[in-house]
Amino acid sequence: MKPRGILLAGNWKMNHGPASARGFFEGLPFSKKPGATMRVYPSFLTLQAALDAVKANGQEIEIGAQNFHAEKSGAFTGEVSGPMLEEIGIQQVLLGHSERRQYFAETPAVILKKTLSALHQGFEVLLCIGETLEERNSGQTISVLTHQLESTLADPTCAEAFGKTLHLAYEPVWAIGTGVTASPAQAQETHASLRALLTRTLGQSTADAVQILYGGSVTPANFAELLACPDIDGGLVGGASLKPDSFGALWNLI
Ligand code: 13P
Repeated sequence: MKPRGILLAGNWKMNHGPASARGFFEGLPFSKKPGATMRVYPSFLTLQAALDAVKANGQEIEIGAQNFHAEKSGAFTGEVSGPMLEEIGIQQVLLGHSERRQYFAETPAVILKKTLSALHQGFEVLLCIGETLEERNSGQTISVLTHQLESTLADPTCAEAFGKTLHLAYEPVWAIGTGVTASPAQAQETHASLRALLTRTLGQSTADAVQILYGGSVTPANFAELLACPDIDGGLVGGASLKPDSFGALWNLI
């Protein structure tokens, strides 16, 4: 068993409405595994159907939101707040995904604001970071990731939450949806650097408690090798989380 447990998380992005989510969970072979957690992040519209489906099927699967607004209420057309999520029983939020950074102009400052708001409201946060291919090719991977984490690491609320209600997902942008996975060696090297950064800033015991998930073209063909790396604590999966067969196959590799 891995020291920090294993988290298999599916990020459905803008896929699966309520009806197809019900079909997904009905078709998902799920049995509990000691030391492992399965979580799915559906769209806002699908959250309630997903919660109802896993309850009806007796599946112990966590359901989280892919985003939320930092303010608790107000004139923010089209947004969803923490209290709304809490009202239906959501306890997890995914923040900082590269698609939010790229298409929705979420800067590190915006992401920090959302992270703090989520932590203050009692949510568990999975914070995504990752470099582009250009940044990797010019040797900037670690400096980019450090920059993405800087304000979070410097914040006392986040520092206190790391390893408890704040965990990380390393998703190299060049590996997302491309079919090009980071090799286990590349991923492990980056995860180890991230853990070293956490150790330098927050101390060994906190760094040891932070789950760092790998994301980017994870499939049943490469997951076992990635999971065998000491600093990889699970997967954040896009495409392969959309079908019960492939997501179930990933779960069976744990
Ligand atoms: P893919 O698994 O489709 O590459 O997506 C990864 C991702 O962005 C998960 O958040």
